[in-house]
Amino acid sequence: MQQHLADKNIALDLVRVTEAAALASARYVGLGDKELVDRAAVDAMRIAFQSLHIQGTIVIGEGEKDEAPMLYTGEKVGFGDGLEFDIAVDPIDGTSCVAGGRPNGIAAVGISLKGTMFNPGHSYYCEKLCVGAEAANVIDLDAPIKDNLEKVAKALGKKVGELNVFVLDKPRHDQLINDIHKSGARVMVHSDGDIAGALMAIDPTTDIDMLVGIGGTPEAVVTACAIKGTGGQMLTRLAPKTNEEREAIIKDGFDLNLIRSVDDLITTDQCFFAATGVTPGELLDGIHYKGGYAITSSISSRGRTGTRRYIQAWHDRKKLSKMSTIEY
Ligand code: FBP
Repeated sequence: MQQHLADKNIALDLVRVTEAAALASARYVGLGDKELVDRAAVDAMRIAFQSLHIQGTIVIGEGEKDEAPMLYTGEKVGFGDGLEFDIAVDPIDGTSCVAGGRPNGIAAVGISLKGTMFNPGHSYYCEKLCVGAEAANVIDLDAPIKDNLEKVAKALGKKVGELNVFVLDKPRHDQLINDIHKSGARVMVHSDGDIAGALMAIDPTTDIDMLVGIGGTPEAVVTACAIKGTGGQMLTRLAPKTNEEREAIIKDGFDLNLIRSVDDLITTDQCFFAATGVTPGELLDGIHYKGGYAITSSISSRGRTGTRRYIQAWHDRKKLSKMSTIEY
């Protein structure tokens, strides 16, 4: 019975969760209010989870119970039957992109069988180096960026000058960006949204060949669910931003030097990922409104088979508003 349930592909059901979050938050695109964007997505996601036949526990959520009324770490979600899953949610990755009307705001969720998801504890930041399947075996987080660029270019059959590298536009990356420029590769800076960046890096149809830099550790775990099964790779190493974070991580018992791959972040191939675009990006389009419809673009994937589906859905807003408590 358990095996039978594990064979069920719930990635498609999961898409409805990210669609709901994206649709609800899209009402606040460009209004400058990050909190409204996040709250709408969290509320909608929580309701949508109830339609999923799983026993889910949030491992990575919006914070502890006291500071996050919903989707807090430890919260139970799902209909309450079926297999037990660990869940990592990022109701909106790129909240400022959505509030500021900039590209790459997405709703994202990763889930894996209970006990198989890395719990980042008090780690908020980590180094990330992410590429698609063709270059998965040549990257090295200890090597200088120049060497990684040369090896990735070779693996992709490109010149270093033809590589496009996704880097978050943060002061901490000034030196990194300089070094990439010196190597001759092209840097594509984005203000936020490194889950979208990693999705682009592993997808051969986009112009992005690699993602590098320091971003959120929770985001890395969500991303690992998406990479699992694709043959792509993301190497990570905890990179505390403050002394407080460093001390808390050491107290958690983590080794700061350890490099974790996708397989260390998610230790089973029984995992699923879904994401829906809120604002337009190269891989996922944002929400569009046409007539009485809201149109969503999503990706859904399954670790076991590596199948990725790109799904466009037309949502009849009038009908939905009669059936759902979520405001679309
Ligand atoms: P949120 O929208 O969830 O705040 O995350 C946006 C993001 O850019 C992530 O994609 C990235 O991993 C992280 O923030 C980087 O953190 P910071 O903005 O603090 O440098």
